[in-house]
Amino acid sequence: MLMPRDADAVKGVRLRRETLRRAWRFSSPYSRRIVGFLAAICAAAALGLVPPLLFRSILDDAIPAGDRGLITGLAAVLVVAAVGDAALAIVQRWLSASIGEGLIYDLRVALFDKVQRMPVAFFTRTQTGALISRLNNDVVGAQTAVTSTLGSVVSNVVVLAFTLTAMFALEWRLTLLSLVVLPLFIAPAKRVGVRLGAIAHEQMEHNAAMNAQMSERFNVAGAILVKLFGRRSAETEVFSARARGVRDTGIKSALFGRIFFVALGLVGAMGAAAIYGVGAHLVVDGSISAGTLVAMASFITRVYQPLTGLTNARVEVMTAFVSFDRVFEVLDAPEAVADRPGAYDLVGARGAVEFDDVFFRYPPASETTVASLETVGAGSSDPDVDVLRGVSLSVLPGETVAIVGASGSGKSTLASLVPRLYDVTAGTLRVDGHDVRDLTADTLRAVIGVVAQDPHLFHESIADNLLYARPGATRADLVTACTAARIHDTIAALPDGYDTVVGERGYRLSGGEKQRLAIARMLLKDPAIIVLDEATSHLDNENEALVQEALEAALSGRTALVIAHRLSTIRDADRIVVIDGGRIAEQGTHDELMALDGLYADQVRAGGTFGAVAPSP
Ligand SMILES: Nc1ncnc2c1ncn2[C@@H]1O[C@H](COP(=O)(O)OP(=O)(O)O)[C@@H](O)[C@H]1O
Ligand SMILES: [Mg+2]
Repeated sequence: MLMPRDADAVKGVRLRRETLRRAWRFSSPYSRRIVGFLAAICAAAALGLVPPLLFRSILDDAIPAGDRGLITGLAAVLVVAAVGDAALAIVQRWLSASIGEGLIYDLRVALFDKVQRMPVAFFTRTQTGALISRLNNDVVGAQTAVTSTLGSVVSNVVVLAFTLTAMFALEWRLTLLSLVVLPLFIAPAKRVGVRLGAIAHEQMEHNAAMNAQMSERFNVAGAILVKLFGRRSAETEVFSARARGVRDTGIKSALFGRIFFVALGLVGAMGAAAIYGVGAHLVVDGSISAGTLVAMASFITRVYQPLTGLTNARVEVMTAFVSFDRVFEVLDAPEAVADRPGAYDLVGARGAVEFDDVFFRYPPASETTVASLETVGAGSSDPDVDVLRGVSLSVLPGETVAIVGASGSGKSTLASLVPRLYDVTAGTLRVDGHDVRDLTADTLRAVIGVVAQDPHLFHESIADNLLYARPGATRADLVTACTAARIHDTIAALPDGYDTVVGERGYRLSGGEKQRLAIARMLLKDPAIIVLDEATSHLDNENEALVQEALEAALSGRTALVIAHRLSTIRDADRIVVIDGGRIAEQGTHDELMALDGLYADQVRAGGTFGAVAPSP
């Protein structure tokens, strides 16, 4: 069901030599096993010729001669051939499994590592579930290319060649006769095969839609939304339509699949009937022996099956290699923030941050999506506006700068440039005087701590979530950080303390607790520069006071860019920068800005929070 044999899907697809070359490069560690696998296939095909020939000898030589010893001997050889065939089947399976699973392993690890290096924009545009299932399917499809497809094509060709050679050698007239019925079958078989592929493809799409709905609706946030909007029956209706699609295509695919095999059996039976019907006359005429007739009849069963297998070989081979192509497409996707050749490590950071005439626009979909994932990507209306337009700002080591401005003015965007989640479009961003693009991303990020609006926690214990920042930290380190972040008491009061598992996205903690935990995690990282994005925006007063205390601990001795809404937070900053429409509109201390009597002063006098600073017209 994973890879449909869909003629449409591979229509117009050419096997590119480059794809083949790279597929081979991925397979080459297994080249000896592949050769062994192919050898086993050939040996099995040759061994398959033995029984019919033995039948012939028993009928033509042993029985007429009354040679009981020969009968026993030939029967024994039959047993040996059967055992050999069984052993070869196992060896074949073992080889194909070890090649296939090995290849799956290699591709999976390569893809996982690659996806981790994809730019943030890629993740904002790609549905996680779709990405995961696509990667899984393509990896399995690529494995299919090397084992099943390659194996079955080679096996069918070899079996066919061996069997037809033997048949022609035995009795060419009967062989030709048996081939006459073939066109009767091949054409319909091809049509059914194509139909089967289309059905499988359709079924896969219904399945994907069904799975996407489940994964979107069956998480805490989705489930709550469904409840609050009273959409249960509507959801069930949509789901049942999709499930109905899966059901109906399932029935069709079972039916067509069976028709295919029944027809195959029918042709085999007809072929055998033709051989006996005509061949028996030849035996009566004395022109062939009874043994030859029986041998021919048993050979015939080994002709039809590989031939039908080969009718759809082209589509199968193409489909399999399309998977390889898709895997390579992901592996080749641009990593927006790749280390430049010659990038060097940032050591002993002091924490100076300087924006020098920075312009930024979000990368267009064409630069960040993988074409084969595009259909599942979010709407791709390419942003064509500069979100930041000539921002120049120099933050000294240890300085705390508050960034305020209307919602959508570009504050979060500005903050996301510091750890290079995105690269500037024009201008330069420097940390300690180094252009961040000259630094290795790992060492740059090591000195920057970010606490986002809605901090993410993994579905793991609190301790594990904290250790993510510093794997070597001791329990005592965790307690110190959590105490400083004013979250230790809350954790200690939990039934399992630090071993409490926080739910998917940390659901069991309140917003303020999550934020303090995120601050503790950042303290463990001990960065020189911290970036807080609206860390206090949606907290109640008590929580805010605690977070405020935690922040004070975090800010001391560090450079800080604080995107803040509340006047209390903003006032304490060394400097306030007002962003308006992607530009710095004003900057200075609270008193200076009040004296300036601009945007900031208006907002303070209006008594509003700073998310609501009115954008300029
Ligand atoms: N991932 C993104 N892709 C494209 N545009 C974005 C993305 N994130 C934000 N924007 C746009 O950039 C502008 C600034 O957003 P943002 O920096 O989040 O503002 P703020 O944090 O000041 O509210 C907005 O117009 C927003 O729509
Ligand atoms: Mg924001």
